[in-house]
Amino acid sequence: MRPAHHLPPVILVFDSGLGGLTVLEQVRRARPDAAYLYAADDAAFPYGRLSEPQLVARVLTVMERLIALHSPDLVVIACNTASTVVLPALRQRFVTPFVGVVPPIKPAAALTRSGLVSLLATPGTVARAYTRDLVKSYAATCTVSLVGSVNLARYAEAEMAGAKVADSDILAEIAPCFDEREDGRRTDVVCLSCTHYPLLLSRFERLAPWPVTWIDPAPAIARRVVQLMGEPADAPDAPEGLAVFTGGTGLNSALARALAGRGLAETVVEAMPLTAD
Ligand code: DGL
Repeated sequence: MRPAHHLPPVILVFDSGLGGLTVLEQVRRARPDAAYLYAADDAAFPYGRLSEPQLVARVLTVMERLIALHSPDLVVIACNTASTVVLPALRQRFVTPFVGVVPPIKPAAALTRSGLVSLLATPGTVARAYTRDLVKSYAATCTVSLVGSVNLARYAEAEMAGAKVADSDILAEIAPCFDEREDGRRTDVVCLSCTHYPLLLSRFERLAPWPVTWIDPAPAIARRVVQLMGEPADAPDAPEGLAVFTGGTGLNSALARALAGRGLAETVVEAMPLTAD
């Protein structure tokens, strides 16, 4: 047995579904020595349709169980829809440090040349006071279009589980991001403000009416994790990751292969049905 001080830190990456895998990838790159637990609250997917009080209650309930079972050293809430509303409640309830993912408005405002920025997110994230405050504080000199997509997170999940989503369906979701003005200015930056969307990035790039810069906040999240936990230890024998699903109805062999390809060799279901209250 290894002495306790050589045990790798445990990092829990949490999302409503598979989107947080895009964040896991970046965090793992930054801290390859850690032990990873990926939790998908798929029993409550999509979070974009839950009211704010429902969502806060749900994430607290699920987190209570995950923290009790797995004692993570740090939790990444790899979900904009949740982070924009539940972080204060989580930090109040648990001593474990939490890192959230929120829309990358600040870098978008710094990058745009045309002053036309779009924020592509779930209907929940675009409706948040938190998101609107970010826009006011960091992008007051830009025109920011808030584009709420009802279907994209579900499309990303479907593709991950081996189904094919038509180009026309994806284009219909991203088209409202592209704004062209009479003075010739066009949207030049789109914030990927749902962690599911980078899973479809190559499709977005191919289908976009004109090239734009797509901002994925995941590398910044990984840097924040390193700030809090320190640089990686020289420990080449980091254990295989574990994926936990609260529902598990979408688990199939294509998805199991995709998870294994992302270092999550084992999958378990911790059944936590979403109750109506
Ligand atoms: N991946 C989540 C996010 O970053 C949202 C998907 C959902 O609606 O559950 O916002």
